[in-house]
Amino acid sequence: MTKPVITVIGSINMDMVTEAERAPDQGETLMGTAFQMIPGGKGANQAVAAARLGARVSMIGAVGDDPFADVLTENLKREGVATAGVKRVSGVSSGVASIVLSEQDNRILVVPGANGRVDRALVDEEAERILASDLVIMQLEIPLDTVIYAAKLCKDNNIPVLLNPAPAHVLPDELLETCTWLTPNEMERKAMGDLPQAVLQKLIVTEGKAGACFFRNGMEKKVAGHTVDVVDTTGAGDTFNGALAVELAKGRTAEEAIRFANAAAALSVTKLGAQTGMPTEAQVTRFLST
Ligand code: RIB
Repeated sequence: MTKPVITVIGSINMDMVTEAERAPDQGETLMGTAFQMIPGGKGANQAVAAARLGARVSMIGAVGDDPFADVLTENLKREGVATAGVKRVSGVSSGVASIVLSEQDNRILVVPGANGRVDRALVDEEAERILASDLVIMQLEIPLDTVIYAAKLCKDNNIPVLLNPAPAHVLPDELLETCTWLTPNEMERKAMGDLPQAVLQKLIVTEGKAGACFFRNGMEKKVAGHTVDVVDTTGAGDTFNGALAVELAKGRTAEEAIRFANAAAALSVTKLGAQTGMPTEAQVTRFLST
């Protein structure tokens, strides 16, 4: 089978991962246990997930003029993601995410930096690449205006769009109509409010280790997830989206694609860091067969 061609228009961050026994309370200073800088960003994570799973992936995004810019771009290249669509913006930092990881949960604060400069002009510059895709993935860590603009370009040219509406946001009707798939988690789904039947058909709602659900003819259908030993859930949703996109681009049904994506997401949480534990296609296939 030829490799599906996927373009990700989205964020590229450096994740500052601090580990602690618990998150500090308001006004409290707490001693942490470990610190690492790990490439992340929902866009870059989803690009890496799709590349590891065998897609031909291009990234469209932006980095700043700080030392992180090269590290983040080189990381994508090493993962086999084409970076010609990643522009370098001067006078601004690359995106960073401050992540506090404890046994109970993870908390993420994102400063978009250069991600905020992913604009309509960049979409126009990269239109040829976008329109040569089997599927385009976006998230909401770049300006909403750009997401709406790119989704319309895709819709007008019959290119399917998978929008992972993260972080949570109320979405304009125009965007709900132009996207092919919408993949919120439960919290992001709540932020989307009531949706008409035509939009419900596009929804795939992720529910952590419980799996994910989708809707057909007004009925909710669940695809069960997996219980594994969790080290870090950061990037589990991104792995799910990258995997889902690859399978949908191959022409799999929603149910088949979700089953594969659930397994990929389960494998990803067994290692520290968003991208570190993202599996290959062979690893997912093996996991599903055991
Ligand atoms: O989804 C996880 C990602 O969210 C992290 O890599 C961080 O960069 C934030 O964008």
